[in-house]
Amino acid sequence: MLNFSDDVIKWQLKYGRHDLPWQVSRTPYGVWVSEIMLQQTQVSTVTRYFTCFMAAFPDVASLARGTEEEVLSLWSGLGYYSRARNLLQSARIISDVHGGFVPSEYDALMSLPGIGRTTAGAILALAYKKKYSILDGNVKRVLARVFCVDRPTNASSTMRDLWVLADKLLPNKNIDTYTQGLMDLGATVCVRGKPTCLSCPLKQRCQAQLEDAVGAYPVKSARKKVAKKSIYMIVFVRNGAALMVKNSGEGLWPGLLGFIDSDTFSDDILKRFADGFALKVKSIAHLPNFRHRLTHIDYLVHPVRVDVSLGVSKGRHAGLKWVSLHNQGQLPISVLVKKIFGLFS
Ligand code: ADE
Repeated sequence: MLNFSDDVIKWQLKYGRHDLPWQVSRTPYGVWVSEIMLQQTQVSTVTRYFTCFMAAFPDVASLARGTEEEVLSLWSGLGYYSRARNLLQSARIISDVHGGFVPSEYDALMSLPGIGRTTAGAILALAYKKKYSILDGNVKRVLARVFCVDRPTNASSTMRDLWVLADKLLPNKNIDTYTQGLMDLGATVCVRGKPTCLSCPLKQRCQAQLEDAVGAYPVKSARKKVAKKSIYMIVFVRNGAALMVKNSGEGLWPGLLGFIDSDTFSDDILKRFADGFALKVKSIAHLPNFRHRLTHIDYLVHPVRVDVSLGVSKGRHAGLKWVSLHNQGQLPISVLVKKIFGLFS
């Protein structure tokens, strides 16, 4: 009988994914960029962003020379924007400290911002064929089922055991195919909702399948509470353009352009904002509410269109931009802001 890793490798060669954009001409730089994008985003979305990103920044040196605004613009809509800022910062470190080459040593990779154990493992295995394990959500699910791990997989004690298990299962050869195979299996066969166990190469050794209990794994922990919040997005409009401000370092979307936001809305609040930007309010229109869900916050968004004219300026404001309501071009904006622009089109 073949062992666990042989089964995965054989299956990957025949049924796995081979033509994802970062696999076509596999370079350490492309593997790194794709792994960062794939940290919190699914393959189908990353595919579009990856190609544009690589066209704009084909190598470490070009990325290191890029500005935060350029990188955030290419990341616009992908979410989790700290990934983009960390990528830029890492490119500069790689240029300065590692001669422009994505490190091939675990400790050097782990010292870069935005790289944890799974991303380091994936880069080492996929780009350098080094024997390192990964443990992303898909792989955790596969292992939890095959080995009937009956404790919540995100508990730190379970994670410790899963890493030990993942290390033990590593093959001595074809680590890149094995690693990709585990990811592919988790993404296409051993999926969360309805796994297709009949076509699984591990079905003979999957304890959950043998016990007819696949649905019970992975064991879930108590769900984190999602906070519900109302947020007013005030869109000042003048001559067909909306006023946008660059978010500060503290908020949810640092560095991105957004609208003026507020937890509450009243004439006084509006006047304070308008005065602050030297604007005179002409009319106010409340647009339809919508929900926007982030990982820990469920927003009820209240967009408000406020048509204005210019008042008496009390000096220049840094970071302000008037952006056409109908053509935003390539701007660093979040999905929520894109949705609001969509209300005007
Ligand atoms: N998820 C994380 N890394 C991946 C990769 N290299 N291919 C497909 N899905 C992934």
